[in-house]
Amino acid sequence: MSPKLTKFVDSLPIPETLKPIKKNKNGAYYEVTMEEFRQKLHRDLPPTRLWGYNGQFPGPTFEVHQNEPIQVKWINNLPQRHLLPVDQSIFHEHGGNLPEVRTVTHLHGSETTSDSDGYPEAWFTNGFEEVGPFFKRKVYEYPNHQRAAALWYHDHAMGITRLNVYAGLAGMYIIRDRKEQSFSLPAGKYEIPLIIQDRSFQNDGSLFYPSQPNNPPENLPNPSITPFFLGDKIVVNGKVWPFLEVEPRKYRLRILNASNTRAYQLYLDSEQPFYQIGTDGGLLSKTIEIEKISIEPAERIDVIIDFSKYRGETITLKNDLGPNADPEDETDDIMQFRVRLPLSEDDRHRIPKHLASIPSLKGNKITAIRTLKLNGTTDEWGRPLLLLNNKRWIDPVTELPLLGTTEIWSLMNITNFTHPIHIHLIQFQILDRRPFDLNLYQSNGQIVYTGEAKPPEPNERGWKDTVAAHSAEITRVIIRFAPYTGDYVWHCHILEHEDYEMMRPFTVIESDKSDERD
Ligand code: C2O
Ligand code: CU
Ligand code: CU
Repeated sequence: MSPKLTKFVDSLPIPETLKPIKKNKNGAYYEVTMEEFRQKLHRDLPPTRLWGYNGQFPGPTFEVHQNEPIQVKWINNLPQRHLLPVDQSIFHEHGGNLPEVRTVTHLHGSETTSDSDGYPEAWFTNGFEEVGPFFKRKVYEYPNHQRAAALWYHDHAMGITRLNVYAGLAGMYIIRDRKEQSFSLPAGKYEIPLIIQDRSFQNDGSLFYPSQPNNPPENLPNPSITPFFLGDKIVVNGKVWPFLEVEPRKYRLRILNASNTRAYQLYLDSEQPFYQIGTDGGLLSKTIEIEKISIEPAERIDVIIDFSKYRGETITLKNDLGPNADPEDETDDIMQFRVRLPLSEDDRHRIPKHLASIPSLKGNKITAIRTLKLNGTTDEWGRPLLLLNNKRWIDPVTELPLLGTTEIWSLMNITNFTHPIHIHLIQFQILDRRPFDLNLYQSNGQIVYTGEAKPPEPNERGWKDTVAAHSAEITRVIIRFAPYTGDYVWHCHILEHEDYEMMRPFTVIESDKSDERD
């Protein structure tokens, strides 16, 4: 179906850095408009109709400094009809007729007040003509109090996130701080963002996404909502299988998996290691030398690659598809590095051994321990339906942590696949993962552990906002809920799961209110 495309014929684009429109007393002010446009994603593919922030795919990169707040007006200037077929039946219980084209932007990984967080029901349409029930403001504020990290922004509208992001609504957001600058890591043209996504195309260049019924639920002829999406082409920074010419020196890559469903096992075919220096929430405490890195949807990794010994060579960034891979599957390739450019200046960067200090949350007083199941069922039309703790979005809020307190969430995955679980507002730490007998649990509801609790992988021992919760394991994370109260969400970041309906609200509440309660 998808046209055959030659690999490594386009050079890697670098998204442009966004410039503020003005600076005022509240910090820099930006405006970003979501638009429909056409962009060439491969030499041999006709231009693809896309949706993007400021008409770019991926969106432009924000670069901000810690403690310098910014304001962003997100403007929806999209057409009335969606780029992709919309299954409105999914969220019919939200009052039936939601506008087909609705958007709301979330800054993933950020510590943001609730009214600027991009709550799924804070959506708005073109020109703010219609707004969702949780709509609070047109201009969002990002305080940027947190440490240096690569965050990303993307659409988060109720029931339709998978289609809006697939159409192109995603970009990077980089926070800098002094601590990070003190390491003088590769910067400027030696620091490269890599936004990895999978896509499928039709021969005319248009995006392919499996079509869905567009009927009211009672008329569903053939229940066919896709429970996952895997594209057959890999797109990096908006080009299919691109290449990058590099100098024989160290480069810092800020890698983001912005795919809907696909996870990657990244490695270099030169058999050289990555030096991983950071996770979702910023620098690790020490550099990890690592040959293969697993990256789930929404996760970010910050790595240094040293090309200095590879002058003249071509190195492919690969995705290990495992021993049972289909030989026709071309998603084992991501992109190429060609070490062809002359060394423009001496590479004085060392790879630091020790990085930022990461205070452990383990010593905190634990206010609540919650066991939260990741489970699957079928809906009334027989379609697969994925849930958090067996609850749907419309069920009353069950997670109400107190501001400033620390909790442990035990994510018990009783499905057969990994779910990357993401929690808004905070960065957490992974405690451990413990395997249990899933068959036994399914037959009699008893939890029998089949092994010891495993500590997180060395490259996960930093701040995280998304964690791989594997099948038949209990993944425990420790979370301090601060610095804001209000309504947020937590969800699986497989967008097809998030939309149907593996997402739940949570509310951080003021501590003294709870004192009255008990
Ligand atoms: Cu990256 Cu709630 O999302
Ligand atoms: Cu988020
Ligand atoms: Cu999931």
